[in-house]
Amino acid sequence: MADKKIRIGIVGTGGIAHAHMKPYVGFDDVEIVGACDIVPGKARAFLDKYDLNDVPAFENVYDLVRNVKMDGVSVCTYNTTHAECTIACLEAGIHVLCEKPMSFTIQEAADMVKASRKAKKILTIGFQPRYDYMRRKVDEIIDSGALGKVYYIQSGGGRRRGIPAGTFVDKEKAGYGCLGDIGCYSIDECLHAVRYPRPLTVSAIATNYFGKNPKYWPGAETFDVDDFSVALVRLEGGVTYVFKQSWAMHADSLGPTMWLGTEGAIKVINKKDELNRPSRYMYYTDVNGMHIDSFIDPSYPFNAYEGMVHKDVFAAKIRGFVDAVITDGPAPIPGEEIIYNQAICDGIYRSSLSGHEVEIVIPEY
Ligand SMILES: NC(=O)c1ccc[n+]([C@@H]2O[C@H](COP(=O)([O-])OP(=O)(O)OC[C@H]3O[C@@H](n4cnc5c(N)ncnc54)[C@H](O)[C@@H]3O)[C@@H](O)[C@H]2O)c1
Repeated sequence: MADKKIRIGIVGTGGIAHAHMKPYVGFDDVEIVGACDIVPGKARAFLDKYDLNDVPAFENVYDLVRNVKMDGVSVCTYNTTHAECTIACLEAGIHVLCEKPMSFTIQEAADMVKASRKAKKILTIGFQPRYDYMRRKVDEIIDSGALGKVYYIQSGGGRRRGIPAGTFVDKEKAGYGCLGDIGCYSIDECLHAVRYPRPLTVSAIATNYFGKNPKYWPGAETFDVDDFSVALVRLEGGVTYVFKQSWAMHADSLGPTMWLGTEGAIKVINKKDELNRPSRYMYYTDVNGMHIDSFIDPSYPFNAYEGMVHKDVFAAKIRGFVDAVITDGPAPIPGEEIIYNQAICDGIYRSSLSGHEVEIVIPEY
């Protein structure tokens, strides 16, 4: 039994809140001490589901922070209320793990970082693929300098048919469509590997041909978010980033995720191959003028009793936050870094609306 339990609250008790609760309730150094949701009765029902019948439930974040002493919270509300809930918790002196995307507007993201700095509390954003074993290996290879200077990055993947339902397609609640759902993951994968150079300009187009077509989406008449977007982003240090993401298209993939450097390249082929492996990581370079194409063997850590050890990335994300709360920081996936991710989403949105390239301006934070 842990000596001191970390006191955790849950803000927003919808779908993803369960993916936070499952690991929390399994940790013996964590105690769930409160929850809130703006839908009356929802937070109560959520806590009861975990047999936490004596833990108090509230209908807004302000009552939760006023009435319950907490060390940390998971903000699991929909995108357009991330900023309000996160700032309320930080101002009450509580560390925050906020779900992705960080916010809707770039001003909200800046205000979140400012609140975290002022309160000297952690603001970490919930990108669980950061804990994926292969993602970490790619980051290490790029950090080692094996690619030389990385001058071009492109995101790949995309869904053939994968428009989600619920708040994901409600503009009032999600702000973005595909961009806020899976686009921000793609930006994080591409740019964290090169330690997030500052974005300078964006030229983008976002469309929704599938969501607006009743043949492909049942709620077509009210669909008003993006389901596809493509962008050319200039990054500090002469790096070009080509972003693309889709919820639906008539193709199996938008191509591979790729980092091109002056000495080598890495390509992620996001498709099952002949051996049914979901994605293959390739490394390309030249030795004595000869092209060398190598398959990157993940060499997963092997445990004699359990076989290959694959980490549950959701559990790792929650553990990462709890550990950071225990040590009073640093944030595992800092708001200061993800503000650049949000700035690109914001730039894509503005550029698409205006029909021309836009400068990325990040408000003071
Ligand atoms: N990391 C992941 O893999 C992952 C997966 C799915 C969703 N998400 C993210 O999680 C967030 C929530 O998604 P979801 O699918 O759980 O949505 P959801 O609509 O099921 O749940 C959101 C909940 O927040 C509540 N809420 C909204 N505003 C609130 C406020 N101001 N105060 C208190 N409660 C409030 C809503 O009533 C709702 O119950 C989104 O930002 C989404 O992008 C992340």
